[in-house]
Amino acid sequence: MSIGIDDISFYTSNFYLDLKSLADVQNIEADKYYQGIGQERMGIVGADEDVVTMAAAAALPLFERSNKASIDTLLFATETGIDQSKAAGVFVHGLLGLPSRCRVVELKQACYSATAALQMACAIVAREPGRKVLVLASDIARYDLASSGEATQGCGAVAILVGANPKLVEIHPQSGRYTEDVMDFWRPNYRATALVDGKYSTKIYLKALKQAYLDYLEQGGTGFDQLDHLCYHLPFSRMAEKAQTQLARCSGSTRDPVARAAMIAPSLHYNRTIGNSYTASIYIGLTSLLDHATEDLSGKKIGFFSYGSGCVAEFFSGSVVAGYREYLHTQRHQTMLKARTELSYTQYLKFYNFECPADGGDHRMPEQTTGPYRLASIDQHKRIYCAR
Ligand code: CAA
Repeated sequence: MSIGIDDISFYTSNFYLDLKSLADVQNIEADKYYQGIGQERMGIVGADEDVVTMAAAAALPLFERSNKASIDTLLFATETGIDQSKAAGVFVHGLLGLPSRCRVVELKQACYSATAALQMACAIVAREPGRKVLVLASDIARYDLASSGEATQGCGAVAILVGANPKLVEIHPQSGRYTEDVMDFWRPNYRATALVDGKYSTKIYLKALKQAYLDYLEQGGTGFDQLDHLCYHLPFSRMAEKAQTQLARCSGSTRDPVARAAMIAPSLHYNRTIGNSYTASIYIGLTSLLDHATEDLSGKKIGFFSYGSGCVAEFFSGSVVAGYREYLHTQRHQTMLKARTELSYTQYLKFYNFECPADGGDHRMPEQTTGPYRLASIDQHKRIYCAR
């Protein structure tokens, strides 16, 4: 029996800022962003959207061919938590009408926790192969204005259905891990924006990649030159290029730079235009690969590198299942991205500076999202969601 990804779909907000608008205000060349960090646009959430509405929107298409009654567990990965106590996934459980016997929990370890969720989901399915696990990863990346991280903001959610004999990607049992207590990126409870030691964070990312990959090989994993494609955690898409160079070096690869670039190119399209979506980014990268690869990927081996600052990292792999194309949501993803509205820099500042009311009164949220769910109000400290 194989276990893995039976279905996958992503969602992002309907607003974005083109990084040229940011570069113009900063009086620098847009190519620093377009080429230097490999990003074109960043997704910006409206006031009535958060990790719950994005995750529910990402999951909705999965139920066109899967029965809600088969969902045994919902694992919600995020580092943009909306409550210190209640799991964001419980709101999604309600919005989607999932069965009451479905357990729900939230997981946190920076951008890594969706991978912990995916591996836990595979273990749950191994015990009860008739059941399915819904993994949701949803985040809003926010840095201080005028900080080095500002151009790497973004937002997005991905929904992954994990089951036995999956239709898309079989996950291999080998996995390599690396954990080290470092302060490269973090967000104390009293802050709405992340703090980051930018250059140091990229160095730690590359160190963790090497260590997790070497551990993966020790566990019997597939060498770099035998992998067909790679999906990396994507804080910005140029990071994947740096990661490829690092892996080629530490694996003694004989592949030339053009072949190495071709291994990652199809996985970068969506993230270039959405920005960083933290926990979701590596799996939005996977949907980008599946949606954009021109060759038939059936039987191809994909390496995955998941990184969460702080830090925990994991390298693992999977094989694409024959016939996968029939089950993709490519058209829906591309229509959603085309329908987004561009914000001017002034409009972006207005969105950025919106503060959620915290005074315990009854507050209706401005109607801004065009997604299927919205945060309708915050009444007496309770978040009230609705279908739009
Ligand atoms: N045309 C083309 N390229 C240009 C250019 C131009 N006009 N101007 C500059 N560049 C290039 C630079 O040469 C540089 O290239 P290299 O990386 O090859 O040296 C690149 O653009 C970036 O320029 P800087 O190094 O000057 O950029 P910066 O210091 O302002 O910011 C950053 C880079 C530190 C990564 C910043 O974006 C940041 O702090 N980001 C947030 C932290 C982050 O994403 N870290 C990633 C690892 S941690 C992680 O993965 C977890 C997570 O999700 C946060």
